[in-house]
Amino acid sequence: MKKLRVCLAGATGWAGSELARGIAATPDLALVAAVARKSAGRALGDVLGDSRLAAPVFSTAAKALATPCDVFVEYTKPDTAKANVLAAIAAGAHVVVGTSGLTEADYAEIDVAAKAKSRGVLACGNFALTVVLMQKFAEAAARLIPQWEIVDYAHDDKPDAPSGTARELAFRLSKVRSPEPAIAIADTKGVREARGGTVSGSQVHSLRLPGYTLSTEAIFGMPDQRLSIRHDTGTSARPYVDGALLAIRKVPGLAGLHRGLDSVLDL
Ligand SMILES: NC(=O)c1ccc[n+]([C@@H]2O[C@H](COP(=O)([O-])OP(=O)(O)OC[C@H]3O[C@@H](n4cnc5c(N)ncnc54)[C@H](OP(=O)(O)O)[C@@H]3O)[C@@H](O)[C@H]2O)c1
Repeated sequence: MKKLRVCLAGATGWAGSELARGIAATPDLALVAAVARKSAGRALGDVLGDSRLAAPVFSTAAKALATPCDVFVEYTKPDTAKANVLAAIAAGAHVVVGTSGLTEADYAEIDVAAKAKSRGVLACGNFALTVVLMQKFAEAAARLIPQWEIVDYAHDDKPDAPSGTARELAFRLSKVRSPEPAIAIADTKGVREARGGTVSGSQVHSLRLPGYTLSTEAIFGMPDQRLSIRHDTGTSARPYVDGALLAIRKVPGLAGLHRGLDSVLDL
């Protein structure tokens, strides 16, 4: 069997190391190179304590891309992601982007570069299959139910609000329709902030308390009935592995930029 050759940037990180182990356990994929600054010059397996991972670690994507690969996975940080993705496309690789924080302008540039080279780029803000399903179920509900709000629950030391998952959900629902609250938020009497923040047209309420990991809930209300669609994460990066493996297998069949794991799922 011809294996797909993968270069993984961010292979020693919280998400990347779990994906590296996932690739090692996958017969049709071979990890041929890795990128991470502090572990450069070592074998990834020595860094992660996993003898299946013989791939060398390089300090930059440019150096790692000297080893031919079919798919480059970007899992580092937003400030390096765009340059890594463009370098990978220039080297002739297809690209899976797991890193969050790239702007619409970054993606527009990436799309142009990918199309020029007839390479695929699959950018997934969340690889967890359960999150993808939560988004799709909420989109289906929004088609029929005009009133909803989003609640985002996270641990007390999460500095940003709302979460990326809640933002993305609000954005996706805005593509379905605008919610129709009975009383406009601007007409709230009392404490306006008690109605939450308006994100892509949806009201989003962020709780930050010990005892939560990360949960996102869309609540749809109709007269005398209510529907809650909720996703809860655990604490490990394991939920992101299966979706990332799927994205790696699918991206060689694409050209140009595609957003979201659902773009390659038959949902
Ligand atoms: N799409 C999804 O489902 C999903 C899931 C989880 C996380 N994420 C996103 O993935 C990204 C990584 O998250 P994480 O929690 O794994 O971060 P992390 O634990 O900090 O890992 C970052 C990795 O990138 C490397 N790195 C960072 N800056 C680099 C640079 N300038 N050059 C080369 N390597 C660099 C780090 O190694 P060195 O420091 O040694 O360089 C490390 O291997 C974040 O944007 C996060 O939001 C997405």
